[in-house]
Amino acid sequence: MGAEVVVEGLTKSFGKQTIWRDVTMTLPAGEVSALLGPSGTGKSVFLKSMIGLLKPERGRCLINGVDIVTCSERQLYETRKLFGVLFQDGALFGSMNLFDNVAFPLREHTRKSESEIKRIVLEKLDITGLAGAEKKLPGEISGGMRKRAGLARALVLDPEIILVDEPDSGLDPVRTTYISQVFLDVNAQIDATFLIVTHNINLARTVPDNIGMLYRKELVMFGPREVLLTSEEPAVKQFLRGSMDGPIGMSEEKDSATAAAEQALFEAGHHAGGVEDISGVPEQMQATPGMPERQGVRRRKDRVMSILHTLPPAAQRHIIDSLSPAEQHHYNVRQVWR
Ligand SMILES: Nc1ncnc2c1ncn2[C@@H]1O[C@H](COP(=O)(O)OP(=O)(O)O)[C@@H](O)[C@H]1O
Ligand SMILES: [Mg+2]
Repeated sequence: MGAEVVVEGLTKSFGKQTIWRDVTMTLPAGEVSALLGPSGTGKSVFLKSMIGLLKPERGRCLINGVDIVTCSERQLYETRKLFGVLFQDGALFGSMNLFDNVAFPLREHTRKSESEIKRIVLEKLDITGLAGAEKKLPGEISGGMRKRAGLARALVLDPEIILVDEPDSGLDPVRTTYISQVFLDVNAQIDATFLIVTHNINLARTVPDNIGMLYRKELVMFGPREVLLTSEEPAVKQFLRGSMDGPIGMSEEKDSATAAAEQALFEAGHHAGGVEDISGVPEQMQATPGMPERQGVRRRKDRVMSILHTLPPAAQRHIIDSLSPAEQHHYNVRQVWR
């Protein structure tokens, strides 16, 4: 099973500029979580802090009991091996073919034989739908293939935690869904803990088990997908709709004068953009039939039912509705809101 990641009161600044403060959340082991947030809110900074590339000023980030923020270089080096990271552009070496790119961490960090390396690389290329492409150079393949190659490389050291930065950047909606399917299938196969940073709303609504959102230098919420997807928080609703109507402005939060001027335009009939109806909780994507069952889904059900009473009523309703009659009996809940 993947490792749990416990983040407590994490605060990161550059000089006088605070990027985010007091971020507290737990990535449940083996579940798929997503972190949303407007551009520039520090999502990439957060991922880099989790692997110790950046040092937060306050707080803790615990993985198997090791605090990434304060641990020794030696512990950091060891703990980093638990992570597989898929950077935004795949971060492949342009002059190496896909085989050598994917083999790179194995050659750097292990003493495996070339035949063992070959077996592992071909297996990971196969999992990511790249079988047969091992001789291609990064420049010769599509953006979607480059990302999948980056994922294959992130998988070779058998990570327990997989971090993904904006997997949809540069991809069309269909290719974004295909790579999302690969994430869920990889999760089903190796039960790793996932954190996907994205502002792709289709992905956010249908892929992760848990969702959080960074906004105004804080983590507005983090929890089971049903909580954010039924939230009445204006910034969350605006973000999900992709509309100009709301507190999020062109480059940051709107000031009150801008908000009033824009509001007058929208009231006079100017289209605020985005889609109107994002109500409800769409069905979640599953691992491809034939894959092992996602253990995270099963564990999440028990976990969410144990905290059900702490969740907002709309989220509770959706969670209970999504259970089968047998599960409702098992958890001793009924659809009382209909
Ligand atoms: N190494 C750095 N030094 C100084 N400022 C940085 C550094 N890295 C990121 N920032 C700043 O942190 C903020 C958040 O950046 P980023 O994490 O890239 O946002 P996001 O990924 O959410 O779009 C930006 O204002 C950016 O300029
Ligand atoms: Mg970023």
